[in-house]
Amino acid sequence: MASGNVAKLIAEHDAILACEDNLSFLRPFKTETMQLVVTSPPYNIGKSYESRARLDAYVQAQAQVISECVRLLHPRGSLCWQVGNHVHAGEIFPLDLVLYPVFREHGLKLRNRIVWHFEHGLHCSKRLSGRYETILWFTKGDDYVFRLDPIRVPSKYPGKKYFKGPKAGQLSGNPLGKNPGDVWIFPNVKNNHVEKTIHPCQFPVELVERLVLALTEPGGKVLDPYMGVGSSIVAALKHRRIGYGCDTVQEYVDIAWDRVRALRSGTLRTRPMDRPVYDPSKPHGGQRRAEAESDSAPLLRLVLDENPKR
Ligand SMILES: C[S@@+](CC[C@H](N)C(=O)[O-])C[C@H]1O[C@@H](n2cnc3c(N)ncnc32)[C@H](O)[C@@H]1O
Repeated sequence: MASGNVAKLIAEHDAILACEDNLSFLRPFKTETMQLVVTSPPYNIGKSYESRARLDAYVQAQAQVISECVRLLHPRGSLCWQVGNHVHAGEIFPLDLVLYPVFREHGLKLRNRIVWHFEHGLHCSKRLSGRYETILWFTKGDDYVFRLDPIRVPSKYPGKKYFKGPKAGQLSGNPLGKNPGDVWIFPNVKNNHVEKTIHPCQFPVELVERLVLALTEPGGKVLDPYMGVGSSIVAALKHRRIGYGCDTVQEYVDIAWDRVRALRSGTLRTRPMDRPVYDPSKPHGGQRRAEAESDSAPLLRLVLDENPKR
């Protein structure tokens, strides 16, 4: 449990959020208590909330935070580090490649390198525009929480049956849907996304929800040491987990609290996990059914969320 100046920030029973440097925030917590550490650190590319450092200094600083996170990780827990590219003088350095050895040094085991594909971003003129980032999902041991059913997605052919053999006539797929695979397509949080705040690089809540549902049990503790505006905390609380997070920018922490409170009062809008991405080749962008099932927001809003050019 937290102590000192962290404890006084416990304003809600299931959310502990602090405006604090992550190393000092993490130190008071008990060893092996977090079921999921999920985060997206600065990429060392000169965003407003970071100062650019040499790549080796950046890795060293990351290694310190990673080491604390590994200490806090429950033996059956998971650690998910979501990163893109560090870019220097036009050259890209994929941060998952750069940081992988740091996790391995701690004996963590890589279970998936999830590719998160999105449609919008900078248009590059001297290389292909970047349209994916990755999530390195590690576990501490071989006996880890992994719950596939809550994150299954609709099968392509749900009625498909075995046509011969002892199971002939029975459904060949799982009636609950299929494994979502390791390429995830979620819109990134750009200006027209329903979750957009002032933060320049937010997680889409639905991305973290998938990790929370698969890798933790209800009541489990979820930690984000670079929490920004608290997207991981929102995802954790939405599914009755406990959220722990910190950020060094007070304005982001204040927004995180606002989002937590809006979630509680039922006014926080997040993009539903089962909504397909906008597909201009389909009627209504292929979204009308999911819209009807998910919430009552008008379709126009949806179209604008994901197709800013319209
Ligand atoms: C990529 S953003 C994370 C955004 C977050 N996933 C969200 O959805 O809002 C990285 C965050 O790390 C914060 N940060 C940078 N250095 C930090 C440190 N030493 N301790 C805590 N937070 C830090 C930045 O202020 C920034 O908000």
